[in-house]
Amino acid sequence: MAVLELTNLSIHFGGLKAVDDVTLAVEKKEIFSIIGPNGAGKTTVFNLITGIYQPTAGAVILDGADLAGKKPYERTRFGIARTFQNIRLFKQLTVTENLILAMHPLRNISLLASLLRFPQFFRERRDVTKKAESYLEYVNLLSAKNERAENLPYGKQRELEIVRAIATDAKLLLLDEPAAGMNPQETIQLMYFIKKIRNDMNKTILLIEHDMTLVMGISDRVAVLDYGRKITEGLPDEVRNDQKVIDAYLGKEVTYVKDY
Ligand SMILES: Nc1ncnc2c1ncn2[C@@H]1O[C@H](COP(=O)(O)OP(=O)(O)OP(=O)(O)O)[C@@H](O)[C@H]1O
Ligand SMILES: [Mg+2]
Repeated sequence: MAVLELTNLSIHFGGLKAVDDVTLAVEKKEIFSIIGPNGAGKTTVFNLITGIYQPTAGAVILDGADLAGKKPYERTRFGIARTFQNIRLFKQLTVTENLILAMHPLRNISLLASLLRFPQFFRERRDVTKKAESYLEYVNLLSAKNERAENLPYGKQRELEIVRAIATDAKLLLLDEPAAGMNPQETIQLMYFIKKIRNDMNKTILLIEHDMTLVMGISDRVAVLDYGRKITEGLPDEVRNDQKVIDAYLGKEVTYVKDY
C-alpha cells in the first residue's frame, strides 16, 4: 500500500493555480522525486502535505487516512517530517541540542515532572540525549556533538537537518532541495547518505531537487511538475528522455530561490 497518496490536489492563490489537480502515490521505502522549473509548485506540494496550507481541492492521504483539517504538529506525530529549501537549524545551539528539540514533541514526560525535576525528568533527559547521540554516531557527526550548528561545514549542516527530521521518528521524509548550494563532492556524499537512510531505517522519501545527478542517481520514480500540473511520471530514464520534460524543464536554466 502507498504510504502517501495525493489525490487531485490543488491550491489556488487568487488566480494562480500553484498546484493544479496533482495525483500521485509514493510506496513504502521508495525514493520518489518531484522535479520541475522554478515556481512549478514543488514546495507548495510540501506545504500542503505538512498542513501549512489547506488545499482548495483534493486530499493528502497518509497510510490510508485522510489528513484533511489536521494541523502541522499533528502531522508530525503521524510521521511526516521535512527539511527546508533554505537550511533552518537553530544556529546558536549545539548539534545535539538541535536533535533533542526535534524529539521534544514525542516526549511523554509531564510538565509538572519537569518543573519539579522529578527523577523521571533526569531519566528522560538521559534517554533522549543517548538517543540523539546514537543518531549522530550513525551519521558520523558524533565528534561534532557539542559544536554549534552554525560552525559545521555547509554539507554537514544539511545532513544535520535531515537527521533532525529522522529524529522525530518520521516514516515519511520530505526533503526540499537538499543539494542546493552543495559542491559536486558534497552532493555525491549526500546521495549515499540519503540512500543509507532509506535502506537502513525503513524510511519513505519524497525529494524535491534541481540537481539532476542526485535525482537520476537516487530516485526510484520521478514526477515532473510544470505550472502546478503533473506533466509526467516514470522511471528516471523515461523522464529524462521525455520531450515534454526537456522542453518544460531540462532545457532551461534554474535559479535557486528561497521557499515560503
Ligand atoms: N503563500 C503564497 N501566496 C501566493 N503565491 C504563492 C504562495 N506560495 C507559493 N506561491 C506561488 O506558487 C507558485 C509555486 O511556488 P513554489 O514555491 O511551490 O515553487 P517551486 O516549484 O518550489 O519553485 P523553486 O524551484 O523555485 O523552489 C509560485 O508562483 C509562487 O510564487
Ligand atoms: Mg521550492
